[in-house]
Amino acid sequence: MNILIKILQYLKYRKTKFFKVGYGCNFKALTSNFIKANKISLGNNVWIGKGADFDGAGGIEIGNGVIIAPEVVIYSRTHNFNSQDLQALPFDHIMLTAKVTIKDYVWIGRRAMIMPGVTIGKGAVIGGGAIVAKDVPDYAVVVGNPAKIVKYRDKENFEKLYQEKEPFVYNKVQHKKEYKQK
Ligand SMILES: CC(C)(COP(=O)(O)OP(=O)(O)OC[C@H]1O[C@@H](n2cnc3c(N)ncnc32)[C@H](O)[C@@H]1OP(=O)(O)O)[C@@H](O)C(=O)NCCC(=O)NCCS
Repeated sequence: MNILIKILQYLKYRKTKFFKVGYGCNFKALTSNFIKANKISLGNNVWIGKGADFDGAGGIEIGNGVIIAPEVVIYSRTHNFNSQDLQALPFDHIMLTAKVTIKDYVWIGRRAMIMPGVTIGKGAVIGGGAIVAKDVPDYAVVVGNPAKIVKYRDKENFEKLYQEKEPFVYNKVQHKKEYKQK
């Protein structure tokens, strides 16, 4: 990798301390933004694309082998705009936090947005541009705004590979990319 990019990455991330980072993780894009990184936890072999925008105020826990495409937004807090004792408009100083949990081997498509309090189940797939405001069950494929289930991935196949614990890791020779018509 270009030495200049490495230096810039070092400067940008030298003070970013995640709660936990497993082995084989890739998240250091210069265009990404991680707020309250000390409440963000990454499992092993997590890949986060460029332009990520994560707010960890309420906690974000990401499992093993999760692949997050570029420009995904994850919020774990929102504003207090509608309580009986509201003190300012359009919202007051109170931050409402709710943890986001993303289980093992989830794939999140480009420009998806994950809202506070959501849990995304093991092996789920989030379509590009989806707005996920509710929990997603294991193996579900969800698309759209608000995100809805359109199908499930093959559970048996997933579980077989899951037991073998062989993740897709970018740049590893045994998983060299191969292109074929859908
Ligand atoms: C979600 C996704 C994986 C589904 O792929 P698939 O299994 O081949 O799904 P299909 O093409 O059969 O689509 C199923 C239905 O969902 C719709 N759909 C698929 N992706 C959608 C999306 N991102 N947003 C809205 N609707 C979508 C299709 O139009 C289809 O609708 P229909 O049943 O009414 O005809 C894929 O469409 C997607 O969004 N991939 C993300 C691409 C990406 O971000 N790449 C970055 C690389 S990391």
